[in-house]
Amino acid sequence: MSDSNKKATLTVGDQSWDFPVLSPTAGPDVIDIRKLYGSTGMFTYDPSFTSTASCDSEITYIDGEEGVLLHRGYPIDQLAGKSHFLEVCYLLLYGELPDAAKLEKFETLVTRHTMVHEQMHRFFTGYRRDAHPMAIMVGTVGAMSAFYHDSTDVNDPHQREVASIRLIAKMPTIAAMAYKYTIGQPFVYPRNDLDYASNFLRMCFAVPAEEYQVNPILARAMDRIFTLHADHEQNASTSTVRLASSSGANPFACIAAGIACLWGPAHGGANQACLEMLREIGTVDKIPEYIARAKDKNDPFRLMGFGHRVYKNFDPRATVMKESADEVLDLLGIEDNPTLQVAKELEKQALADPYFTEKKLFPNVDFYSGIILEAMGFPTSMFTPIFALSRTIGWVSQWKEMIEEPGMRIGRPRQLYIGATARDYIDVENR
Ligand code: CMC
Repeated sequence: MSDSNKKATLTVGDQSWDFPVLSPTAGPDVIDIRKLYGSTGMFTYDPSFTSTASCDSEITYIDGEEGVLLHRGYPIDQLAGKSHFLEVCYLLLYGELPDAAKLEKFETLVTRHTMVHEQMHRFFTGYRRDAHPMAIMVGTVGAMSAFYHDSTDVNDPHQREVASIRLIAKMPTIAAMAYKYTIGQPFVYPRNDLDYASNFLRMCFAVPAEEYQVNPILARAMDRIFTLHADHEQNASTSTVRLASSSGANPFACIAAGIACLWGPAHGGANQACLEMLREIGTVDKIPEYIARAKDKNDPFRLMGFGHRVYKNFDPRATVMKESADEVLDLLGIEDNPTLQVAKELEKQALADPYFTEKKLFPNVDFYSGIILEAMGFPTSMFTPIFALSRTIGWVSQWKEMIEEPGMRIGRPRQLYIGATARDYIDVENR
């Protein structure tokens, strides 16, 4: 970030004020209005943050017009094609790609933290068996604060580091436990000889009665899904984590807040909603009916997995995800998968419709991910927990960046008050 020589001038009535314009390394300039209230006595108004940069960050860059997503400068398609999830975790967390020795050390560190405190097993049994795994994730990750007291002091760099590693390492274990619990199977302990994705697949699908062989191609596809969801700059759940952390709250509580936000169907919950929609559509002949509903202002139905606040062009993650869906179904010998057929035809018809092209609504990351996850054997209720475990590295990296910034202050938005003005209390008998 550098100060450009440009200034923005705000004129209200016959008064004017100048504000600095900051230039990023990439992307649009930003008007620095931090002194606006002090100078003018006015606030800005931007309820859904469509024009507000809430922080500066070096982690992820998105160009929504061009369909570009970079992590620390590296394009997502290169990372998804050539790297792997734990290397991307290192990159997001520490800023640079590791050399071989650093990578090995990091992978060992994460692998050695995958087990959860044994008492957490009993904690799980307090949930109803039919609980949604996301409900279990919100509660259990928040409860980590009660189990790992030695990594809750956000002012201690060592504790922050340990908390970061614990969150990255234990999230797959917790997600797999949430799944096993809801289907009534015993928890499967992590195994240190397996890579991150293989370990997760085994914890989800192995049973004590028989050997479980991880299919390396499915493990690769799983790893790619993790990588594609790893971070996405200041999205709703990440902003939630940042705001929660700004009060100095412990990292486990803050990540639980991020999980809660991610659950909504406009955000991470869209992957479950999208597959359910594709199944509901069922056959390609029904597609026009659903497209008509999505366009109808009086119908709340939306095409799930379509549209994005920032991407006004293809979501680059969706392009990789679509290729992966073809590969995985091919590998599993699933030919003529009806859900994939509906998805491809729906995409084709929507992109040929001016409603979607004029509003720049394209498939997003959630459009094809559910098809891959379903083919792997996951129920739809596990789709959003898988998003949450993948996004944990993004949340943790953004949290770390924020806490390490000198002069960090609590986030405290203001408001445009439109309620009643001061009035006197009236006793109940006189109302
Ligand atoms: N189907 C039909 N119409 C849509 C859709 C859709 N999926 N998305 C947006 N629109 C229309 C919307 O009705 C509005 O029309 P108008 O201007 O005539 O009122 C216009 O497009 C702009 O929509 P918006 O709701 O103002 O846009 P937003 O930036 O606030 O919302 C979104 C972005 C992702 C929440 C929205 O596109 C959506 O609800 N999509 C479906 C849910 C989804 O797939 N979410 C996953 C997002 S990517 C992964 C993630 O973030 O977790």
